[in-house]
Amino acid sequence: MENETHALRLGVLASGRGSNLEALLEAHDQGRLAAQVAIVLSDRPDAPALDRARRRGIPALVIDPETTRARLKPEIEERYVSALREAGVDWVVLAGFFRIIGAVLLENFPDQILNIHPSLLPSFPGLHAPRQALEYGVRIAGCTVHLVNAEIDQGSILAQAAVPVLDRDDEETLAARILEQEHRLLVETVDRLAQARIRREGRRVLWGETSPGITRPNGGD
Ligand code: GAR
Repeated sequence: MENETHALRLGVLASGRGSNLEALLEAHDQGRLAAQVAIVLSDRPDAPALDRARRRGIPALVIDPETTRARLKPEIEERYVSALREAGVDWVVLAGFFRIIGAVLLENFPDQILNIHPSLLPSFPGLHAPRQALEYGVRIAGCTVHLVNAEIDQGSILAQAAVPVLDRDDEETLAARILEQEHRLLVETVDRLAQARIRREGRRVLWGETSPGITRPNGGD
């Protein structure tokens, strides 16, 4: 295989249902994503996300965090890093991964870990974001794809999508409408990352001048 055709390789970390992972897998199967999922890692042996990968012959491993605490221990993060490196991963995607990422992963994949979150950050970080949005009474909710840094849900924002809050919404209906937008936004953002270089100016992310759909990431600065 020529290096020129190297598709961006993703390592997806997921703790549960894995519908965002499924969106990436489907988009790749349908030729809508210039990146491929190389490996799926989970902290939970019962995560349905694992089967979604295995059904397609994609390696899916459980790495036991050996703690109930959200923050991963450095030695456990080393195991995640080894598995990601062995799979030749370029970018790491947190797709419903309910653990806190620490220095080991961040140093090994600097500005190369992204997360999808079901709110318009910086509003409503943490757990149960759609519930937080409803309880606060915002009229516009949404989702965010952002780079991961050491602070929870505070990394630079790559992309956002807005979702109106309807009078008849409860947590379930709002979360479901946000989730539809998450699937679209995550696929679009990863595809864009695969085809353009990003530049950071402070917290701001600027999306290079390369034309989507033409330039590959090995095309130079
Ligand atoms: C998604 O809504 C994702 O945004 C959220 O968990 C869900 C996972 O669904 N993540 C967070 O709240 C992270 N703070 P999925 O397993 O079906 O992709």
